Amino acid sequence: MKILKVKNEIEAGKLGSEIILDLVINKDKPVLGLATGSTPISTYNQIIERTNSEKIDWTNVTTFNLDEYKGLKPTDDQSYDFFMRKQLFDHINIKKENTNIPSGSISTNEEANKYDELIAAKGGIDLQLLGLGTNGHVGFNEPPADFNSLTSIVNLVESTIESNARFFAKKEDVPTQAISMGMKSIMSAKKILLIALGESKADAIAQLVNGKVDPSWPCTLLQNHKDVTIIIDEKAASKL
Ligand code: GLP
Repeated sequence: MKILKVKNEIEAGKLGSEIILDLVINKDKPVLGLATGSTPISTYNQIIERTNSEKIDWTNVTTFNLDEYKGLKPTDDQSYDFFMRKQLFDHINIKKENTNIPSGSISTNEEANKYDELIAAKGGIDLQLLGLGTNGHVGFNEPPADFNSLTSIVNLVESTIESNARFFAKKEDVPTQAISMGMKSIMSAKKILLIALGESKADAIAQLVNGKVDPSWPCTLLQNHKDVTIIIDEKAASKL
C-alpha cells in the first residue's frame, strides 16, 4: 500500500486529480470507478480546472459510480446521479452514455448484479476512486462486510445515516438503503485510490493501515489488493 500524506484538502485534490488525469491522458479507453461524498470534491474541482485549461479529452472515458441511494431518482438533488453531474460530468466533455451509476430504482439483487456484468463487459475498472466512511465503509459496504459481495441492495447503519444527514433537510429524509458495488466488485479494480480527510477518518485509516483484515472494518480488505494508493491529510493520519 502506498501512503501519500498531504497537508490539506487542496493538496489531496491536486494529487488525486493528477493520478486520475494521468490515466485519462495516457490510456486508450480508460474505465474509471468514481465516488461521491465531500472527500472527492477537491479532486473533481482540480480535474475540471485542468481538463478545461489543458483541453483534456474525455470522449473515450467510461465511468462507473460506486453507489446510489435506493428510491432516489436522478432528478432528485440528493441523488448521487445529480451529484456527479453537478460536481463533474456537466463540466467536462464526457459522453453521458459512458457514465454509469447504479439505478436507485433497482429492486432485486439479481438486477443489481448486472452492474458487475456491465463493468466486466467494459474490460473492468482501471482505477477505482474511494472515499471512506467513519466506520470504515467503502462504497456503502457497511460493517460487518461481506467480502464476497457483488453490487447489491444494502442497508445503511445508523451512524452512516447520521453522518449523511448533513446533506438532507432532516435526518428522516436520508434513505435507509442503497445500491452499492460490493467488496468483490471493488477488489476487482486494477488500481485503487482511496482519499481520506479529517479527524473523523483517523480510526478507519489506522485500521486500514495497521489493523488486521476484518469484516468489522470493511476497508481492511484493501490490504489484500496489490495496487492501493491512499492519500490522507494530517488529521486522517493522526492515529498512525
Ligand atoms: C458515503 C458514500 C461513500 C463515501 C462516504 C464518505 O457514505 N457512500 O462512498 O466514501 O460517504 O463521505 P465523505 O467523503 O463525505 O466523508
